[in-house]
Amino acid sequence: MTVINMRDPGRFEEVLPQAVELLRSPEGFGFYVGKGKDGWVYHMVDPTDLLSNEFEGLDVKIWVPGFTRRRSEIEIHRHVFASRPTHFRVPELVHADTSSGAFVMEHIRGMTAYRALFHGRRLISESLYDSVLTAFRELNVMGVHHGDAHLLNWMLEDIETIQTPRGTVITDADVVIIDFGRSSFSHGEDVAQVREDIEFKVVLGL
Ligand SMILES: Nc1ncnc2c1ncn2[C@@H]1O[C@H](COP(=O)(O)OP(=O)(O)OP(=O)(O)O)[C@@H](O)[C@H]1O
Ligand SMILES: [Mg+2]
Repeated sequence: MTVINMRDPGRFEEVLPQAVELLRSPEGFGFYVGKGKDGWVYHMVDPTDLLSNEFEGLDVKIWVPGFTRRRSEIEIHRHVFASRPTHFRVPELVHADTSSGAFVMEHIRGMTAYRALFHGRRLISESLYDSVLTAFRELNVMGVHHGDAHLLNWMLEDIETIQTPRGTVITDADVVIIDFGRSSFSHGEDVAQVREDIEFKVVLGL
């Protein structure tokens, strides 16, 4: 059996251009995960062997042609992962190839907040709502403004619910922040918000 190092950049360089071509074709629909303004996300595949499970647990985001802020999305996503957030998770970024217009990342097994709340017709507890705010505040403390924090750009994993007279309430879950395509670094300590974020580190226990 050949054991492939999942972080082997050579292997991704070899398969990614052809995988992108295949996923952009009608065959790609079988691997569809989600889409947004700037790209489409699919389960990562070996284009020469679609039944292979070599890339299980990984997704590939393919930017729409013309989306030009690719490098900053990669740079910011890497920075957030490397900062080891404690109040949220972020998919591990495995490989980026800006010439193919795509990057490979960990697949998040949870669901978007949109799906968890609206499709599931569920409410969210105040404490989980606070956890979501804390997660985005921690991101600010890392010097990053998400820039596009809508309900399809944060996800919930390991959801716990209770039944109440008002309906099903999500009481607890792990928050995962995704999609740094419209994010920016907030440099400069003279910006009042940045100073407050630095002070907030103490509150977060970072
Ligand atoms: N790592 C992941 N694991 C599981 N699902 C994901 C992952 N990344 C993205 N998705 C799904 O794919 C969708 C589109 O991805 P993403 O938000 O990165 O695209 P986008 O085009 O930048 O979106 P936007 O419209 O917010 O700009 C997400 O809303 C989510 O449903
Ligand atoms: Mg998005």
